[in-house]
Amino acid sequence: MDKAQILVASNRGPVSFSINDDGSLSHRRGGGGLVSGLSSVAAENDTLWVCAALSDADRTAAAADPDGRLDRAGFDLGSMRVRMLDIPSATFSNAYTAVANSTLWFVHHLLYDTPNKPAYGAAFRAQWEDYRAYNSAFCEALLTGASDNARVAVQDYHLALVPRMARGRRPDLRIAHFQHTPWAPPEYFRMLPAEIRRELLEGMLGADHLGFLSARWADAFLQCCETFLGSKVNWDKRSIEYGGRVIEVGVHPLGADGAALRERAAAGDVAERRAALRERVGDTKLIVRVDRTELSKNIVRGLEAYRELLATRPEWRGRVTHLAFAYPSRGDVAEYREYTESVQRVAKEINEEFGTADWTPLILEVNDDFPRSLAAYQMADALLVNPIRDGMNLVAKEGPVLSHDGCVLVLSSEAGAADELGSDALLVNPFDVSETADALHSALSMPEEQRRARCERLVEAAVALPPHRWFNEQLRALK
Ligand code: G6P
Repeated sequence: MDKAQILVASNRGPVSFSINDDGSLSHRRGGGGLVSGLSSVAAENDTLWVCAALSDADRTAAAADPDGRLDRAGFDLGSMRVRMLDIPSATFSNAYTAVANSTLWFVHHLLYDTPNKPAYGAAFRAQWEDYRAYNSAFCEALLTGASDNARVAVQDYHLALVPRMARGRRPDLRIAHFQHTPWAPPEYFRMLPAEIRRELLEGMLGADHLGFLSARWADAFLQCCETFLGSKVNWDKRSIEYGGRVIEVGVHPLGADGAALRERAAAGDVAERRAALRERVGDTKLIVRVDRTELSKNIVRGLEAYRELLATRPEWRGRVTHLAFAYPSRGDVAEYREYTESVQRVAKEINEEFGTADWTPLILEVNDDFPRSLAAYQMADALLVNPIRDGMNLVAKEGPVLSHDGCVLVLSSEAGAADELGSDALLVNPFDVSETADALHSALSMPEEQRRARCERLVEAAVALPPHRWFNEQLRALK
């Protein structure tokens, strides 16, 4: 029997390339729920993953055959086939940087500083044309070679228009769209131009099944459909009638891949990082945070909360260290560059204000060192995850899984993860710096027994829907 065909589309693919000094290419497998979710599914199905070439090295890989296995139609990665699209750079930059990251991401995370932005003029309309062209390039690639009744899993806000485009050409396909971010409430979504609101919502409604990480985001999407399309929503079933079809909306709260994470964290490089960190922080207690340098992650207010903790509870001075690890992200967006600078500035101020000859209160690292993050999770006494708004936030789930002594999670109520972890985390309003400082104090002071018991329950909730089951749920919804 032929294997069933599954097509996946996402902007960032499962692998990235780099060019070595001698001109050859190396590849690195990406992390993230989607990659691990697909790995086991790919073995049992005929799986093709379509993604964008994101760097010069990716573009070279997309066009060449450096290791004897690549060709223009794609290459094998484990048991799946990957096709990287070489989208013209101006089109890509308008679609990815201007529309997806500087507009849609800002809308869904409520990030605009509205007295100044946004202003949707002719330049934005032109960028939108490129967003459409980029979605259309993905649609073409998916349809090329899609067998009858193939199942298509389109990912995230970069590709909102693909479901409708694909359905128009191939009604036999079974299409899912999964949104990895929050969804804006109607009163915020309404700031987008009317025709673009409509195109986005209708684009996604081309799918048979729409997935979200939290019921809060799914319901906000349905409210937008009611408000802006006048469509009929069945709130009991979370489904919507549109264009003569019924579209199901599902909630799939992605969890951590406990087994894979523990295996990775058992490697020698993590133990080395742990020893090096211990050397640096001595026997102080640790508050850990790990994020991308991302506006929605609320790093500055987190640092301000730490500053307030040290100012108002001097008993912690010299007895705690804050490890703040931030992976560089989206440096092509001016707001991200400015934000990273403000994170660095506040970090420096805190060390100048409180540091002594033998105590550095805060260690901020803006670079990419995954094993060091895993080591920090193992050592954390408190894990701070305080986003302004977040689709899920896997740090909140992965940290407790690796914790050696039972860390206390200080978690924003505005992260999707609060749905599953809220009863055993210390929940905070991400805008309330004093409340966050108090929660850090409670976390550091919590008796060991209570801390361990809470952490055990956090782990149980964190791994409830591991990536392979999360992905299978969406595929099953397409049967
Ligand atoms: C979020 C998005 C993903 C994205 C990731 C990293 O989690 O939902 O789609 O891949 O951020 O962002 P980047 O722009 O670097 O791909």
